[in-house]
Amino acid sequence: MRERVKILVVDDEEIVRESLSGWSEEDGYGVGVAPDGPSAIEKLKGNEWNILLVDLKMPGMDGLQVLENARKVRPEAAIVIMTAYATVDTAVQAMKMGAYDYLVKPFEPEELSLMIKKLVNQQNLLRENILLRKALKRQYRFRDLVSKSPKMQGIFELVKTAAKSNSTVLILGESGTGKELLARAIHAESPRCTGPFVEVSCAALTETLLESELFGHEKGAFTDAVSRKKGKFEMAHGGTLFLDEIGDISPKLQLDLLRVIEEREFRRVGGSELIKVDVRIIAATNRNLKKLVEEGIFREDLYYRLNVIAITLPPLRERKEDIPLLVEHFLGQLGVEMEKNLEGVSREAMDLLLSRDWPGNVRELRNVLERGAVVGSGGILQPGDLGLLGAEGDDGFEGAGGESLKEVERHHILEVLKQNRWNISRSARALGIDRVTLYHKIKRYGLKPERAVS
Ligand SMILES: Nc1ncnc2c1ncn2[C@@H]1O[C@H](COP(=O)(O)OP(=O)(O)OP(=O)(O)O)[C@@H](O)[C@H]1O
Ligand SMILES: [Mg+2]
Repeated sequence: MRERVKILVVDDEEIVRESLSGWSEEDGYGVGVAPDGPSAIEKLKGNEWNILLVDLKMPGMDGLQVLENARKVRPEAAIVIMTAYATVDTAVQAMKMGAYDYLVKPFEPEELSLMIKKLVNQQNLLRENILLRKALKRQYRFRDLVSKSPKMQGIFELVKTAAKSNSTVLILGESGTGKELLARAIHAESPRCTGPFVEVSCAALTETLLESELFGHEKGAFTDAVSRKKGKFEMAHGGTLFLDEIGDISPKLQLDLLRVIEEREFRRVGGSELIKVDVRIIAATNRNLKKLVEEGIFREDLYYRLNVIAITLPPLRERKEDIPLLVEHFLGQLGVEMEKNLEGVSREAMDLLLSRDWPGNVRELRNVLERGAVVGSGGILQPGDLGLLGAEGDDGFEGAGGESLKEVERHHILEVLKQNRWNISRSARALGIDRVTLYHKIKRYGLKPERAVS
């Protein structure tokens, strides 16, 4: 149980002190009273108070002066100013000086009751957020990754050691689980951290383009090769090469890659010179590589070459304890990016986030919070801000009542992908967009096949 909330009533009129403390006691709060400013400050020093109800007009020290002093003695207490003279000026001034809100006298017990309830909720949330923020600074992070799940903590430990070696690392996991972030963290923790980190998205390019992207080409190697170009292997010399979506490369490139990994040398497309490189390889995929090997789609020898250290990132639904931590982390980031004060999410909004399955994993969670940050009015995000209500259908947008343009697009792309059994080239053609664009949209919307279709 939480500690009882304590309210201090500061008013020069006895009748006001008595009625306010009576009402608040009925609501179950602990109450104290003070007839004037100086005695209120004394009481503040001696005890912990959560909420102060302060009359504006009092002989001697007035409400604003009490406010000013109280902020110094008890910065964590929320202060509500009561005034019979509801001039906007004084109210604004009080808020500027750090009051939480003001009440215009006379007011009904319900009005006070409601305001205090709101305040207590907010204070509890803020306290929880402060604890989360401290936890984030402490043990629950590895570079840019945050997690308190035991599985992820195990991965962080393994990776810290593995980063020091030159071994190839294979990162597996569903879309949006943090594979790229982990690859970057490994590079940053390794002795190669001062060298380059070069990323290649293998699924986004055709075989020919990917080949020249990886190995470079000589002038005149093909029609568009107007000059010599360095490949990613060369660019990553002395550093790390991150081969993303490795499960999608063609048989020919699988063989080429196997050779480079074994020999650490290669030729540019259309070139004869052997080029030697010192590169650490990290590969990642959201596909089931082992199954692709069994089906003869992915070379077994390459699989073993890549699989020296294998890490599987668990999906978010298997580590829901990370959700509050990630919410805090992302709202912190988004708040800075958008120059908006994002304090947290309401209890109801958190329940909603915790109840979801997150097919798009951490990326999807971030997107939802980003939407919330844009449409919400700042402060504490409510369930309605997240755009998730009524979205319990299998692809998440049924019953939302009026789909946004983006939702329609997502829906349509998913349909086309299903029709084409997730063949990216065919789907892209059907949609009239190029593969790279489709690939990015699949990522952005967190789309994935319902069952492994290969
Ligand atoms: N543990 C984490 N802590 C903080 N941010 C995370 C974490 N995991 C993922 N993210 C964030 O979620 C988003 C998706 O992560 P990332 O791009 O690394 O996923 P991925 O596994 O490579 O996805 P895909 O398979 O679709 O390429 C990024 O914005 C990343 O910063
Ligand atoms: Mg990725």
